[in-house]
Amino acid sequence: MAVIAVVGGQWGDEGKGKVIDLLAEKANIVVRFSGGDNAGHTVINPYGEFRLHLVPSGIFYAQVTCIIGNGVAINPAVLLEEIDDLQSHGVSTSRLFISDRAHLIMPYHTLLDRLEEERRSEGALGTTLRGIGPAFTDKVARLGIRTGDLLDKGVFLARLKSALELKNIILTKVYQSPPLSLEDMYQQYCHYGERLMPFIRETSSVIREAAAEGELILLEGAQGALLDPDFGTYPYVTSSSPLAGASCIGAGLGPRGIDRVLGIFKAYDTRVGAGPMPTELKDETGDLIREKAREYGATTGRPRRCGWFDAVAGRFSVQINGLTDIALTHLDIYDGFESVKICTAYKFRGQALSFFPSDAAVLEECQPIYEELDGWRESISGVRDLKKLPVGARKYLSRLEDLLSCPISLVSIGRDRRQIISVRDLFS
Ligand code: IMO
Ligand code: MG
Repeated sequence: MAVIAVVGGQWGDEGKGKVIDLLAEKANIVVRFSGGDNAGHTVINPYGEFRLHLVPSGIFYAQVTCIIGNGVAINPAVLLEEIDDLQSHGVSTSRLFISDRAHLIMPYHTLLDRLEEERRSEGALGTTLRGIGPAFTDKVARLGIRTGDLLDKGVFLARLKSALELKNIILTKVYQSPPLSLEDMYQQYCHYGERLMPFIRETSSVIREAAAEGELILLEGAQGALLDPDFGTYPYVTSSSPLAGASCIGAGLGPRGIDRVLGIFKAYDTRVGAGPMPTELKDETGDLIREKAREYGATTGRPRRCGWFDAVAGRFSVQINGLTDIALTHLDIYDGFESVKICTAYKFRGQALSFFPSDAAVLEECQPIYEELDGWRESISGVRDLKKLPVGARKYLSRLEDLLSCPISLVSIGRDRRQIISVRDLFS
């Protein structure tokens, strides 16, 4: 068995929840290692349909220990709601652990996220308004409050007092917003702390010990490579790294501890929020993809921007993640398309670019150069064997493998857990 990092290859929403839910059948541990409740991982299985924001997507299996790692920012209100919802559907949360090092999202984080988006006005980033940016800012600024702090009310009060003092100055003096009450917040978070206490512990040692025993560990990413603060379309990015490299730090493993890196890509591209997206289709083809695939945000309900597969961005994502395998999802959305396009290079001021530029303003000017392939008429949702796919679909897969220089090991052809084509064994 092995440690497998499972990461988003595009701008998020690639189908990480479905893939983790599938692979977790054989796993011992599933760890969320980054992001927060800006993530929305959709899982459809015999328990029902779920949109998980914080709880790892392996929670549906009794043998799986699920860990919210130190790299995640946790809004306790959202987490408790999610735990209650799972329990009400008959899903046990007795094997869920929360890292005592994970930072908390506080009410001033969500408030400041909104106030800052309003201040940016036309230049808004289109964040999920979940307080992610402000919470990770405080982590790095050494102003953060961690889940472990909730275990000692004296420690918690002192940290909250010090943080809120500054936040209230910012709220009142910079944003002309009323101050927040220390007493209310303290009481509310003490209540969360009491409920979360059984879940909070040191978790990195659990992960390392299981790895040493050769257990199967899945490191569940959030967001996608193109939203990475370093390598994504800065400043139109999120505030924690969604890359495979971050899975070590966000879980507590060394870089040699990862055996395989599985990147999840959709058969096309989507993006929600602002920022450049060269292959975006603002026409009926884009609308068709959005309606067929129900491309509306799992966290915010916003319509997602849809477009053809961008293999320039895809290749970059393979490289910066060190992918060993790809899972391609939503291939069935192309059923009935006469032809499908892949962006193989960009045109920038009359020149062809074959790499993903570091400057978002350059990317904004890039025009996609497309290659057009024949589509396929039939529905592929019932196919379980690669060889039974129509010629058009097989050619599409093999062209993507060539362009990305990475094998496609899983192909998802529907929303259900069983609608999957396994091309290569990921556990061997
Ligand atoms: P999953 O895990 C898609 C996007 C937001 C916005 C930018 C910054 O479901 O793939 P933030 O709230 O993080 O400060 O917003 O990042 N974003 C996502 N887009 N899927 C996600 O997560 C996302 N998490 C954040 O839309 O453009
Ligand atoms: Mg999502």
